[in-house]
Amino acid sequence: MVLYLIVVLTFTIALYLLRYLLTKNHDYLKQKNVPHPKPLPLFGNHIESILLKKHATQVSQEISEKFPEEPYVGTWFGTRPTLIVKDPNLVKLVLSKDFYHFSGRDVSDFSDREPITNSIFFCGGDQWKIQRQNLTPLFSSAKIKGMFHLINDCAAQLERLLEDETKSLSYIDAKFLFARYTIECITSCGFGLNSNTMKTGGAANPFMIIREKIFDTSIIRGLKMNSRVIWPSLFYALRLCLFDKRIFSFFHNLLTGIFTSRQSEKSSRNDFVDLILTWKQNNYISGVRLGSKCGENNTVRLKVNNDLLVIQSVLFFGAGFETTATSLSLVLYELAKNQEVQEKLCTEIDCYFRKSNGVIEYECINELPYLEACIEESLRMYPLIGVLTRDVMDDYTFPTGLRIQKGDLIRTYQ
Ligand code: HEM
Repeated sequence: MVLYLIVVLTFTIALYLLRYLLTKNHDYLKQKNVPHPKPLPLFGNHIESILLKKHATQVSQEISEKFPEEPYVGTWFGTRPTLIVKDPNLVKLVLSKDFYHFSGRDVSDFSDREPITNSIFFCGGDQWKIQRQNLTPLFSSAKIKGMFHLINDCAAQLERLLEDETKSLSYIDAKFLFARYTIECITSCGFGLNSNTMKTGGAANPFMIIREKIFDTSIIRGLKMNSRVIWPSLFYALRLCLFDKRIFSFFHNLLTGIFTSRQSEKSSRNDFVDLILTWKQNNYISGVRLGSKCGENNTVRLKVNNDLLVIQSVLFFGAGFETTATSLSLVLYELAKNQEVQEKLCTEIDCYFRKSNGVIEYECINELPYLEACIEESLRMYPLIGVLTRDVMDDYTFPTGLRIQKGDLIRTYQ
């Protein structure tokens, strides 16, 4: 009987303790006078997105709509206080003007725990700033113009592939088709190699396999992604990883050979690898410390080694192909539904080809305004990264007087 009592007592105390731990900061937003819905223990207000029942954008939007007049709404993403910022002027402060306080995404303090999360997309602060400052010149229009002939070659392959597949298949998965095309563009412009995604193998092509690993949409990956945001210390203490280690190894094996051969023999491809290899010249890349005032000499440096260059290449690959493939397939989807728009667009493109004698030049991007409008409208209708998340890097006070703390999360949705 005594043993029974001890067990029940221990269990009850453990339950209370757990509940206390999971709800202890639930007064945080109330004390700050931030309008907020009632949170659940453990899941906060984002249970449907944490359990992958709904898209994160939809959940943020639905919560916001319950507070139509408020500039922001307080929520808990799991157990992390998360402010959904709605007022466009405050969004501008977070994403642009006061960016110093919001330079990280989600869990930037833990970005050094995995090779891939060391990239610009995951880190914050000076680490982000140095990479951003040194990557920006690589994306200038002059550099992209220099790669245009490579994209043109890939487009010719796409045309041949479409001719073949329309003869032999009853339907074509547009997203898959464009992923094959954009991966070929990225590997060609980025690394100077042919992935052959449009020629052989289909889904069995190694690049298509690595695509599945990077953009793994399984429930396990989704749960890992969310638990990493909510309890990063526990996530890494349990030796979990967001990205499959084979992704980094794949690119490491692929690229270190290319780096070595390019260093011993000068290349004139002017592709991404050529450009990031210039980082190796001084063994370091440097940048101005984030938040430095004009005139202050506040330089920070980052050591350059093969791992850093491989990480940039994974980023270039991952950020570049899936976004573009999805955007292209959504433009086609809308054009298929809007015949009138499709005909008007075809007329504009036919007219361009008549003028240019069938040759497509880089300058076409300035000569096809209707095409540009179609792409922009499609991106407006289907923003690919619907929710932009920011880590609060340093305590910050909004003009409304609301003070948020380091470690809180910010979400804005499009
Ligand atoms: C239609 C195609 C694309 C769309 C819709 C798109 C969308 C976006 C968005 C919304 C962000 C901001 C995310 C945030 O602030 O949290 C972003 C960031 C970024 N994108 Fe793209 N993107 C596209 C294509 C590309 C391509 C082709 C590349 C490179 C090859 C690329 C590289 C990047 C990088 C490096 C960042 C991070 C910038 C930073 O942290 O400063 N994107 N993209």
